[in-house]
Amino acid sequence: MTTSIRGDVKDISFAPRGKDRIEWAAKDMPVLRLIRERFAKDQPLQGVRMSGCLHITTETANLAITLKAGGADLELCASNPLSTQDDVAAALVSEYGIPTFAIKGEDEQTYYRHINAVLDHEPNMTMDDGCDLVSTLHTTRSELIPGIIGGMEETTTGVIRLHSMERNGVLRFPVLAVNESDTKHLFDNRYGTGQSSIDAIIRATNILLAGRTFVVCGYGWCGRGVASRAHGLGANVIVTEVDPVRALEAVMDGYRVMPMLEAAPLADIIVTVTGDVNVLDRQHLERLKDGAIIANSGHFNDEINIPALESLSTGKRRVRDFVDEYTYADGRRVHLLAEGRLVNLSAAEGHPASVMDMSFANQALGAEYMRQHAAELQPRVYTLPPAIDREIARLKLQAMGVRIDILTPEQELYLNSWESGT
Ligand SMILES: NC(=O)c1ccc[n+]([C@@H]2O[C@H](COP(=O)([O-])OP(=O)(O)OC[C@H]3O[C@@H](n4cnc5c(N)ncnc54)[C@H](O)[C@@H]3O)[C@@H](O)[C@H]2O)c1
Repeated sequence: MTTSIRGDVKDISFAPRGKDRIEWAAKDMPVLRLIRERFAKDQPLQGVRMSGCLHITTETANLAITLKAGGADLELCASNPLSTQDDVAAALVSEYGIPTFAIKGEDEQTYYRHINAVLDHEPNMTMDDGCDLVSTLHTTRSELIPGIIGGMEETTTGVIRLHSMERNGVLRFPVLAVNESDTKHLFDNRYGTGQSSIDAIIRATNILLAGRTFVVCGYGWCGRGVASRAHGLGANVIVTEVDPVRALEAVMDGYRVMPMLEAAPLADIIVTVTGDVNVLDRQHLERLKDGAIIANSGHFNDEINIPALESLSTGKRRVRDFVDEYTYADGRRVHLLAEGRLVNLSAAEGHPASVMDMSFANQALGAEYMRQHAAELQPRVYTLPPAIDREIARLKLQAMGVRIDILTPEQELYLNSWESGT
């Protein structure tokens, strides 16, 4: 198969399979479908050149199709070297005419070459997952910044980096923190990461979780989801935290909470999901028991100290797809999944479409909002208006066939008054 669309994908002949899977995901994305239908009529993104750095999955393809239907001239690259679905990348290029630069397993040099390729598109708007696109723009491609009206950011780690840029006075255009919408983090981070991380661990190892000691590092939105799904499968869950409120919440949700040094020797499986660095550090790795499985679901592959794991080991071999067995000098074996990259997107398919429906509804409506309001915004990090959040929740409930009550006039008056008391 040949195509004249720009791109760098593993094998363009994978496209038909990718198209089938993109259409399969579309069935579970009713909110995005409604937005696409309106965008096709109203053309809110007509004339906007967009560059997107996102995980190249079936769900992202549906977002890209929606933005293109709304008039955007869009190019995409991967937001992680291991998360690309090669059949989807091929289909985006040859079936949907969307230039895409992404190959599963690409090295770091290729990863940044791909980011630079979508920046060569000279975007007016950016769409990022983890802030690598925006940070590259601000460091090595700053000549492009005057042409940019604003951007959107998908994940917690990206929002943290953007806040740091804002604090340090270096951020030069407004960015909408899509992650902060309730219809994003309450569902995507919790139920999406919860289910897909467990899915990936099972696909990679085929182990039974019932009866295993499962340590979750970080009890944020993602950690809550991973812990509850592991518990649901019968694992004995331990949580580690640094925030006393979140630690207390984990205790009252019924989990054991303890420092990582105490949890490490008990663990059959450890999942890091903090957005922090070296949460599973040398002193913890030294204490793991024979056969322990370690994985990361946080954005970057620095939550597990992999250089320390390498230096503790006398041997390393790949025992299954996405499973590397490290052998310590005393014979203990430790199994690292997906090279410490986000396991759910590397060893499985990432979040199910039903939950990405809401995250990407926020992205699409965020792009429309940015187009309409960029001139009023400062170079700062913004959240989407609550009205958009509520509308997405309303449409999702409608699609699920769930009806809810509405306030009576009496109740509205009551809830807005201070006079009535005991
Ligand atoms: N895998 C995915 O598909 C996916 C999806 C969404 C978000 N993420 C990423 O997952 C990470 C977590 O996101 P979140 O939304 O849950 O963030 P969050 O801020 O809600 O939670 C992170 C938690 O980790 C805790 N923490 C920080 N350092 C720690 C340490 N040393 N030990 C134990 N706990 C520690 C924090 O106190 C906090 O409670 C981010 O990197 C985010 O970008 C991944």
